[in-house]
Amino acid sequence: MSIRLRAGLITSAVIGAGAVILSQGAAFAAPPTPPSHHTPAPADSLRALASQSGLRIGAAVNTDLLATNSEYRAIAASQFSSVTPENVMKWEVVEPTQGTYDWSAADDLVSFAQQNGQLVRGHTLVWHSQLPAWLNAAAPSMSSDQVRALLKKHVVDEVTHFKGKIWQWDVVNEAFNDDGTLRDTIWLQKLGPGYIADAFRWAHEADPRALLFYNDYNIEFTGPKSNAVYQLVKDLTAQGVPIDGVGFQTHLDSQYPLPDLQNNLQRFAALGLKVAETEVDVRTTLPVTPVEQNAQIGGFTSTLQACLAVRACLSYTVWGIGDAYSWVPDVFPGEGAATIYDENLQPKPEYTALQQTLALAAGTPGRNDPRR
Ligand code: XIL
Repeated sequence: MSIRLRAGLITSAVIGAGAVILSQGAAFAAPPTPPSHHTPAPADSLRALASQSGLRIGAAVNTDLLATNSEYRAIAASQFSSVTPENVMKWEVVEPTQGTYDWSAADDLVSFAQQNGQLVRGHTLVWHSQLPAWLNAAAPSMSSDQVRALLKKHVVDEVTHFKGKIWQWDVVNEAFNDDGTLRDTIWLQKLGPGYIADAFRWAHEADPRALLFYNDYNIEFTGPKSNAVYQLVKDLTAQGVPIDGVGFQTHLDSQYPLPDLQNNLQRFAALGLKVAETEVDVRTTLPVTPVEQNAQIGGFTSTLQACLAVRACLSYTVWGIGDAYSWVPDVFPGEGAATIYDENLQPKPEYTALQQTLALAAGTPGRNDPRR
């Protein structure tokens, strides 16, 4: 994959500082009863605490670790009420050879989720990265019609394969540049900007009950990119394109502030859309200083508070379980420590901060989730 440098962000607030006001009063929906064969989650687990606000708390799951590391598997099952495949629903994994699908790893994750009473965020259908090598080689010399047929088949086949099993799909991922222009991808080059609306229409036809999301990074705060996504989803909604929500990846860096996440989530919600924090992590330069860790704790706390304060925010997903398995060190040299579990899968103060934030919010209004 390409290396991307991001202007990440984060607040320097510590737990409790800058607390958002959580409105009181509305009833919250009871979480669905998990199947009886799974071990009940401890009362102080993230998932048990989040359920008291009707929020799904998720993690990106590495399916190799799920299969081989029992400690990792136990955490994934007991702490989270939603899972996102970190890689195994991406095009390069599901269709390594043109015309030959391999759903096995993703199917295993869906079964794991079902066994553990978890919902699945499908990730991701249309992206410029982690495409199969055969596609990268062939697409540039294809006609627009051929590329369109290829993309449509991919979206329809994948959504159909998982029909009824996916709660939220990230239909289109990272279509914008930081300056708010559309990213120059093979899809834009061959199909023009209409590929985004088309992808949502195709996905909706294949699974009308799945919630369909646009997902991106650096849109957590207002600015050119967030404004461009806002305009896009406003236009799509006005045109009757079947889009249900916007995913805010929330890859933060301890050195940058995060000014206005809650207000920004709220303005998207005001369009009638759901929102979700889909890939939360807070990286920092290594080794971590106490000041940096405080900033990391503040980043997890304030992003969760923002989601809890917005009823349309359906889920809060951390990107990776364990600093040893995070994508950050590979992509941001010299940085890491971005997850809520340490190198030995022990919970960090960042984990405790999420626990405390959820406990404080328990009983506040539930989610405005049409699927519950
Ligand atoms: C990352 C995975 O975490 C890595 O394992 C993989 O090598 C590259 O992709 N935005 C996204 C995610 O939408 O799919 C990316 O996941 C992280 C950035």
